[in-house]
Amino acid sequence: MLNIFLIGMPGSGKSTTGKILAKKLALNFIDLDIFIEEKYNKKVEDIFEENGEDFFRIIERDCLDEILNLKNNFLLALGGGTPCFFNNMTKIKQNGFCIYLQFKSTELANRIVSNKNKRPLFKNLNEIEVLDKVKVLLRAREIFYSEAQLVINELEYDENKLVELIKNKLSK
Ligand code: S3P
Repeated sequence: MLNIFLIGMPGSGKSTTGKILAKKLALNFIDLDIFIEEKYNKKVEDIFEENGEDFFRIIERDCLDEILNLKNNFLLALGGGTPCFFNNMTKIKQNGFCIYLQFKSTELANRIVSNKNKRPLFKNLNEIEVLDKVKVLLRAREIFYSEAQLVINELEYDENKLVELIKNKLSK
């Protein structure tokens, strides 16, 4: 059984990278936000808006549990906040191999600004406010993210190398 979890801030490319890696490693790709949206038939940004973040964090945890209980051999792209609530990070590490896609706050902010209205945490913020918020979130979250078994820095990022690195780590 092989399960891989991708974690990192919004804008770190978890979904895009996740799809490519899953294909290369012959794993089923699951995106936690999409799993939630399909189960509740509602966009994540609407859940935030209508039910609030606390409610979102509960259903996010419950959907993570559901995937862990029902599925195997997957690559799961988590939401940016997933590892930082409840004991999610402990469960993630107990159920597979966790990779943190690490980017600098300036790079993340640039990526987020281009589609911030789809991201509830950054909606209605200007560019400077987005960067400030990214810095605050990253400072608080790094402690959870850095628990990952593998940290990939933006500078060493390359999909083919990443696949080799994962295979190497898993064979040990
Ligand atoms: C969140 C990130 C989002 C989504 C929700 C909350 C966060 O996922 O789960 O908007 O707290 O960072 P992405 O990281 O895929 O954007």
